[in-house]
Amino acid sequence: MTLAALASPSAVPETPKARVKWLAAPSSAAWLEQAIAQPELVLIDHSHCERKAAGVALQLMFRYPGDVALAEALSPIAREELEHFEQVLALLQRRGIALRPLPAPGYGAALAGQVRREEPSRMLDSFLTAGLIEARSHERMALLAAHSPDPELRALYWALLASEARHFGAYWLLAEERFGRKATVARLKELAAVEAQALTGAIKRPHDVRMHSFGVELGGGIQNTL
Ligand SMILES: [Fe+2]
Ligand SMILES: [Fe+2]
Repeated sequence: MTLAALASPSAVPETPKARVKWLAAPSSAAWLEQAIAQPELVLIDHSHCERKAAGVALQLMFRYPGDVALAEALSPIAREELEHFEQVLALLQRRGIALRPLPAPGYGAALAGQVRREEPSRMLDSFLTAGLIEARSHERMALLAAHSPDPELRALYWALLASEARHFGAYWLLAEERFGRKATVARLKELAAVEAQALTGAIKRPHDVRMHSFGVELGGGIQNTL
């Protein structure tokens, strides 16, 4: 599967393994083990990720207020992300886990640092970094959906997968429609390399695990069994 083959939602292949070819490197078995060992932390972090994803979509709508196609694509994403936040929050509450701030890994900041300041490059980079974060979230949720020992968590992650896949497809389309496939693929390759680099390394303590903490394998990684 090439990046170009992922040009539209309809071209997004059915298997999660193929979908994550957006990413330059798959997540490692170490990340999955760490995440499974700290389900409460990952859930709290996940709730923050959903809220942030809604914020990213809203921020873009405010930054480009006259862009109707952008609003049509991103308003439903913002709503869905808040629904996901509410789903995770409800599960936290059912389990008596307090919602609390957590130090974020450097992942989001590393990607934000790649967004060029001048338009229209800023727009392209914003779409692609948002799409990469969606793609990584999707990949890791798929791993948890397949491998978490907790049936309720498996069901939660499974339920979220389809919409997360739609989200990175939507960001792809926004980029391709405005910048063309060639320029979009070229920039995505650069940013995907940075994304993988931002996840290369090892956490210092078990409780540093996050949805986007270190853990990729540049030479292979675990296979998604979904
Ligand atoms: Fe989400
Ligand atoms: Fe999403």
